[in-house]
Amino acid sequence: MEQKLRELEQDALQKIQNAENLKELNDVRVAYLGKKGPITEVLRGMGKLSAEERPKMGALVNVVREKITAEIEAKQGELEEKAIAEKLAKETIDVTLPGRPVQLGNHHPLTKIVEEIEDLFISMGYEIAEGPEVETDYYNFEALNLPKGHPARDMQDSFYITEEILMRTHTSPVQARTMEKNQGKGPVKIICPGKVYRRDSDDATHSHQFTQIEGLVIDRNIRLSDLKGTLNVFAKKIFGEEREIRLRPSFFPFTEPSVEMDISCKMCGGSGCNVCKGTGWIEILGAGMVHPNVLEMAGYDSNEYTGFAFGMGPERIAMLKYGIEDIRHFYTNDIRLLKQFAVHEE
Ligand code: PHE
Repeated sequence: MEQKLRELEQDALQKIQNAENLKELNDVRVAYLGKKGPITEVLRGMGKLSAEERPKMGALVNVVREKITAEIEAKQGELEEKAIAEKLAKETIDVTLPGRPVQLGNHHPLTKIVEEIEDLFISMGYEIAEGPEVETDYYNFEALNLPKGHPARDMQDSFYITEEILMRTHTSPVQARTMEKNQGKGPVKIICPGKVYRRDSDDATHSHQFTQIEGLVIDRNIRLSDLKGTLNVFAKKIFGEEREIRLRPSFFPFTEPSVEMDISCKMCGGSGCNVCKGTGWIEILGAGMVHPNVLEMAGYDSNEYTGFAFGMGPERIAMLKYGIEDIRHFYTNDIRLLKQFAVHEE
């Protein structure tokens, strides 16, 4: 029996040495120390031994079992360390490798212009107002002194959804909505950027959808000179301090008097070139004093309150400022064009 135990020990130690991974080692453990293993078997056979042999054999079995257990533990530690070392080697990160470049986006040129103009007017105490793009005929036209059948409606070819609902053709309905909300009281000082829609054929200078920024100021004693001063600050801040402005008489049904503002041409400095079509001036926006009818319809006493309004197209401003020649470039999203504006980013 003792001989058998010694052989068993030798076999077990050999297998432990040969185990290449933790799974194999565990198989050895189960095979030799488990309930169905040879050691348990030896213990079971002890009943047949004589009384003096029994404790001797018992002690020997324990020694063998402890030896095998100790060897397994030692080997286990060794294999675990090996596994960790392999894992570390496999997962090593080479911190000296150059990184992958991150693709950075930049603002769309139109967004930049709109935000620049917003910031300027906010710095002058204006608030930003918004209104719906799907608008009623009332706010888009009637409340702006353009009753049904008025010939000036033809100036803005419209996308009608029903008889009474259309895609707004300008941001001016936000004037009417804002005045109505203020219930006949001043002061009102807002600008409203937003999308507008017109039934135009798209070409280099026309788009069926474009952007406008509306401005409106209502208070007591607001005069045309206030409008002129405001527009002068705007032109110099956006186009450069050396720019001059001029106001020309014009017509809009919702302002009286109405004006159009030009700025002196940057390209030729006023002497005339193809950008300004030889005039030395470039048209930038429409404006005027809010028509008394518009004030009254929105609930204001036009003897007490006056105001001015202006409306401009950021596309046109961005085209002039950045030298973009086709309005369609703003909407076709050619990454090569958009990327050029990354350099302007602060
Ligand atoms: N709404 C006008 C347009 O789209 C512009 C404008 C706004 C003119 C405010 C005067 C006052 O042409």
